[in-house]
Amino acid sequence: MSTASFGAEEFGAKERVRHSAEIETLLEPIHDFLLCRTPQAWLNEAQKAQWQDVLLIDHLHCELKAAQSAALLLRRYVLDQEGAEQVLQWLLPYEDCVYRGKAVNLRELGRHIPRIKVVTQHAWQARLVDRMVLLMKEELHHFTQVYEILQARGIDIRAVSASRYAAGLIRHAHTHEPKTLIDKLIIGALIEARSCERFAALAPFLDQELNRFYVSLLRSEARHFEDYLTLAEMVKGEAITNEIARLATIEANLIQQQDAELRFHSGVPQVV
Ligand SMILES: [Fe+2]
Ligand SMILES: [Fe+2]
Repeated sequence: MSTASFGAEEFGAKERVRHSAEIETLLEPIHDFLLCRTPQAWLNEAQKAQWQDVLLIDHLHCELKAAQSAALLLRRYVLDQEGAEQVLQWLLPYEDCVYRGKAVNLRELGRHIPRIKVVTQHAWQARLVDRMVLLMKEELHHFTQVYEILQARGIDIRAVSASRYAAGLIRHAHTHEPKTLIDKLIIGALIEARSCERFAALAPFLDQELNRFYVSLLRSEARHFEDYLTLAEMVKGEAITNEIARLATIEANLIQQQDAELRFHSGVPQVV
């Protein structure tokens, strides 16, 4: 993942057309999957300068949470104790950076991706390891990119309360297997898809650096959404249409309901 492909100074008319065509192609399955678009009221509020620091800090937390969620799936469904410890150690410096304010050389860290050895029984487990390790690597790279933007802009990482979005989805996951895993994977797909939809919707209203950065995130977030869905289908062994319909409805409700605080995944901002 790099911003370089969108970062060239000479960005001619032909490249611009190709670029916007690529974005449209990436967004088409996302818009088909989600039951609603980001409400205009959220966009109107989120583009105000007063929210930019909070949204960037919230974004930093979201990237870490995305990596932590993938790590949880690996630990819960595939890894042995040694593998689980490797994954925890991988995340630790990033958590130190956000939760404990430690100075960490994230670029250096990004060069050392652990090789996690696993013996898997089922095809879906092998795919889970393959996809979730790659997803963690990419989310932690996004984390580094957001962290560097915060540092360059002199924004301190302060505590920002989480929106009710992810918790509001996860409490609707079934509590018995394999339904729990299937639901968690679909929820992962919904969060990735919504992030992608929001990056694209908000990007045109931001400064050039953030605009390019958000657009650059679309490719990997769109792939993450597909990876989660494919995994859910593999676990079930058949189509997951009904499961998707149930959770996508809950997701759309969360996005369309009012929220007191503006966050990256919040609903319609409450007018006070
Ligand atoms: Fe990400
Ligand atoms: Fe992602």
